[in-house]
Amino acid sequence: MVRYPHVQRPIVINGVAIRNRIFMPAHTTNFGEHHLPSQRHVDYHRERAKGGVGAIIFEAVRVTKNTLGRPQGVAGFLPGCVEAFRRVADATHEHGVPLIGQVCHMGRQIEGEFERSCSVGASPIRWSTTAFPPREMSRRDMDIVVDGFVRTSLNLLEAGLDGLEIHWGHGHLLQQFLSPSSNHRTDAYGGTIEGRMRFPLEVLLAVRRAIGPSRCMGIRFSAEEFLPDGINPVMSVEILERALREVQIDFIHVTHSAYNMAYSIGTQMADMGFDKADVRHLSGQIRRGLRAASRNVPVLTVCKYRDLAEAEAMIAAGEADMVGMARAHIADPAIVRKSIEGREKDVRRCLACNQGCAQHLERNIAITCLVNPIAGREATWAEPGAISLGSKRRVLVIGGGPAGCEAAYVAAADGHQVSIWERGDRLGGRLALAPLMEKRGDFQSLLDLQRYRLEMLSVPVEFERNATAAEIAAHKPDFVILATGSTPSEFVFPSGRRGVTLDQAVERPELLGKMVIVHDDTGDWPAFSLLEHLALRGHRVIALSPLAGIGWRTTIYSTAATRKRLRSLNVRIVPLRGLVDFDGETLHTEDLSTGEADHFTAVNTVVVVRTAVVNNPLETKLEQAGIPYIMAGDCLAPRTALEAIFEGHAAGRAAGERP
Ligand SMILES: Cc1cc2nc3c(=O)[nH]c(=O)nc-3n(C[C@H](O)[C@H](O)[C@H](O)COP(=O)(O)O)c2cc1C
Ligand code: SF4
Repeated sequence: MVRYPHVQRPIVINGVAIRNRIFMPAHTTNFGEHHLPSQRHVDYHRERAKGGVGAIIFEAVRVTKNTLGRPQGVAGFLPGCVEAFRRVADATHEHGVPLIGQVCHMGRQIEGEFERSCSVGASPIRWSTTAFPPREMSRRDMDIVVDGFVRTSLNLLEAGLDGLEIHWGHGHLLQQFLSPSSNHRTDAYGGTIEGRMRFPLEVLLAVRRAIGPSRCMGIRFSAEEFLPDGINPVMSVEILERALREVQIDFIHVTHSAYNMAYSIGTQMADMGFDKADVRHLSGQIRRGLRAASRNVPVLTVCKYRDLAEAEAMIAAGEADMVGMARAHIADPAIVRKSIEGREKDVRRCLACNQGCAQHLERNIAITCLVNPIAGREATWAEPGAISLGSKRRVLVIGGGPAGCEAAYVAAADGHQVSIWERGDRLGGRLALAPLMEKRGDFQSLLDLQRYRLEMLSVPVEFERNATAAEIAAHKPDFVILATGSTPSEFVFPSGRRGVTLDQAVERPELLGKMVIVHDDTGDWPAFSLLEHLALRGHRVIALSPLAGIGWRTTIYSTAATRKRLRSLNVRIVPLRGLVDFDGETLHTEDLSTGEADHFTAVNTVVVVRTAVVNNPLETKLEQAGIPYIMAGDCLAPRTALEAIFEGHAAGRAAGERP
């Protein structure tokens, strides 16, 4: 029996032969150097092409100087770019995978600070209150952009890429023209649908004219902006139908969202808090709309597809012709091959956490992945077990949290003899609390994967083993990995009352009254998630913050949508508040802007979230005993699962090196 028969059916799009229906959508990696694709790009894309995907769309390639932004962003108009792109195309072609170039101008949301230029847009409307307004584009500005699209497209094809995806979505420049929410122009390029389409169509026509009819050119298009005055699916069918009448478009990649600092931007990389149904209807709606008008162009879908079963169902139901998996491929480059071979349990499933990918994107650093520390290090870190190591060693891992489990897996896969000693009665450490929270349930798949791998490699785990240095020495390990984690900070008010810790709030709901105040000074995911969790469990929740906002260490790609949900749950956010005392049912606080006293009444519970305390009882003793060791995760400094798993992975590799 053929597994995933609809997924495995090849497709040809204007001469581009694609071996199956899964593609990897464009995702900016920040691997670029001097605005050109780097060796890291080559290695990253080769690995994904090897993993069985049908086609790869390369990250947004910028078309003019005023959309360059950060130096890691890649451009298609600079000297040397053809050779640099050719290396990436050669790498995917080695594995029979076509590479499509995404051609893009970001318009108003480009960070002008990098190039010391202003951003440009359809109208002088900001995408966010944190941004400067863009310059309203003149006809001359438009000519430069048309030229940039043509030049970049020709360069990409000359470099051997197989086709082009012109960006008409995600709130980038051409969508800024298309959308009534960002285009308030009164000249020929605004107003009616015809006016708003004029410039985006000019770009498409110019590129098509330059490349000819036999080269593959599609568009990426946001069919829903989730804005009151934005593009919606009905308007989308009209825009697309008009476009198809004017110019040859070989595929339509249906996406959604605009760059607009509200719920809209949060939908683009919908995180685990989203119901996948929130965006799944769009491609089918567009496909049916276009087919009703006898337009049989292939329609691609995207967003939060994390296994091939979901993709199979979409294609079988006629909701799309191809399915895009971006984060699923960051998490596991071989998701397609493993699934087709029936090895779904070996897939490192994307959690839709946005912590390694979107968050690093936003911070202008190279993307990575919480569940896959190899992402972006393909040349230096082979898959564990892929390379045969000379020496096999006796490795003892102290602590079975995320860092310890990852370390043990890597070392065991590399052939070492590994044991774990865990002082509690379960694996997962404090991360095991995450899936107990509403909207954070997807973390369970990571915990399951870690346990499954250890079982497959027969790694013995001793629970309730509170290791001492003497016991460790008696075990005679060649190498010890300390992953002893952290413990939550206790907070005692002057009245003697204790704040409830985050861990207690999740594990022991019986401690909580109806009205809960959460005071968080970490700004990170656990406390941010706790607000929604408690509100969904029926508590009246007030969030107090020492800063002007909440969740400041998380990413806007998640917070913008979470904030909307918190609002609908009536969670009140009170900025600039310090804690003074909790007495009876009154919480006394300080307004940090004025220093004045303030208070909240009828408060049943105060959850106080502070940075955790390292749990590190063994480092000095191992040092004194001369036992070789390495440390990983929260026992070094309390942070998140992203850092814990990365360090656990690195520690597992270090087990094979001489101390
Ligand atoms: C780190 C990162 C960078 C992205 N960069 C781009 C980009 O350059 N161009 C683009 O059209 N979409 C970009 N996206 C959006 C993805 O193409 C995709 O639409 C989104 O991640 C949802 O799909 P997924 O659930 O399969 O990840 C990016 C997504 C991520 C996570
Ligand atoms: S960091 Fe999280 S969301 Fe991003 S690819 Fe990895 S698991 Fe998926």
